[in-house]
Amino acid sequence: MAGVTDRPFRQLCRHFGAGYAVSEMVTSRRDLWQSLKTSRRATHAGEPEPIAVQIAGVCPQEMADAARWNIDRGAQIIDINMGCPAKKVCSKWAGSALMQNEALAAQIMHAVVAACLPHQVPVTLKIRTGWDCTQRNAPRIAKLAQEAGIAMVAVHGRSRAQGYAGAAEYATVAAIKAALHIPVVANGDIDSPAKGAQVLAQTGVDALMIGRAAMGRPWIFREIAHYLSTGEHLPAPTVAEVRLALQQHLQAHYALYGEHAGVRSARKHIGWYVASLPNGAELRERINQIDCAATQAQTVDDWFAHLQTRHITLPGQRDSLFDKQRTTAPGCEDTHSPPAQKTTPKPAPKLAPA
Ligand SMILES: Cc1cc2nc3c(=O)[nH]c(=O)nc-3n(C[C@H](O)[C@H](O)[C@H](O)COP(=O)(O)O)c2cc1C
Repeated sequence: MAGVTDRPFRQLCRHFGAGYAVSEMVTSRRDLWQSLKTSRRATHAGEPEPIAVQIAGVCPQEMADAARWNIDRGAQIIDINMGCPAKKVCSKWAGSALMQNEALAAQIMHAVVAACLPHQVPVTLKIRTGWDCTQRNAPRIAKLAQEAGIAMVAVHGRSRAQGYAGAAEYATVAAIKAALHIPVVANGDIDSPAKGAQVLAQTGVDALMIGRAAMGRPWIFREIAHYLSTGEHLPAPTVAEVRLALQQHLQAHYALYGEHAGVRSARKHIGWYVASLPNGAELRERINQIDCAATQAQTVDDWFAHLQTRHITLPGQRDSLFDKQRTTAPGCEDTHSPPAQKTTPKPAPKLAPA
């Protein structure tokens, strides 16, 4: 997720049980590769393997070059973005807009696969169900992907026109899984162990992809994995564990972005961590006034130390996160939360694959 799943956050998600994590999208535009934003996104020092980098663009040759450039910087898997709904991406016919042009989508996939083949780097694809409800062509694009040598397809169960509104549908994901022999990943609105089990059962997919529900709750990966393998719910993490994880997250965040930008962009992460905690809004208010990294980290730590005097495990953890407003993404201006999903917990027979 652009603006969210940077290297420090991906490392945290892997620590908390995510089997796999993909970078924020990196543009295929060569003139932007030296920009601070792109060079931060394309640096993977200390990141657990496999290092998967998502590229976004519209020109087959540029996308092939971008794949090679990222492989030179440590990418071990290249993911092609055909899912982003942001206007600034789609207006250039990249992201989910590519799904409207199946011939171009196929050319891009062939070009990127050919560029990655000599390096033995697999190429994966991220799509939506289609452009809108009248053009739900994800099954055709997925078939083209398999023919082009794509190794895995992840499907967000919404059309581009839906943005993040309404609820994700999984029938299209299930149809794609049934039609392909390469692994298929289901994505969209998975926000609890029960929902993960439900989506697995409904689609038969090989893996689940979690996005927004991990914001401020990176331990969701171990919660889902545990439930899928045992049928039992893990208790909420202890306040002490979250306090330590958040401090490590903040220090890694400041190290990546520097103090000025880091303090500002850390505010949203802190806000997500405390969104469902008692008096979390009050901490958010205070954090927004602080411009110094040491003071921000200390204020957060003091707040959690106080919480620790009253709670052993993290209070206020809900089954479904999508019943509260989530924050809009930079670059994804039509992001907002779908309504809550009611699910019936039931044990699932298989493990979440890595
Ligand atoms: C802030 C934000 C940024 C995102 N950036 C990307 C991106 O760079 N590449 C991508 O493939 N999807 C991106 N997405 C979409 C997510 O990967 C995911 O498909 C979507 O949020 C639905 O899954 P969820 O319900 O688990 O969040 C982004 C979503 C959000 C909310």
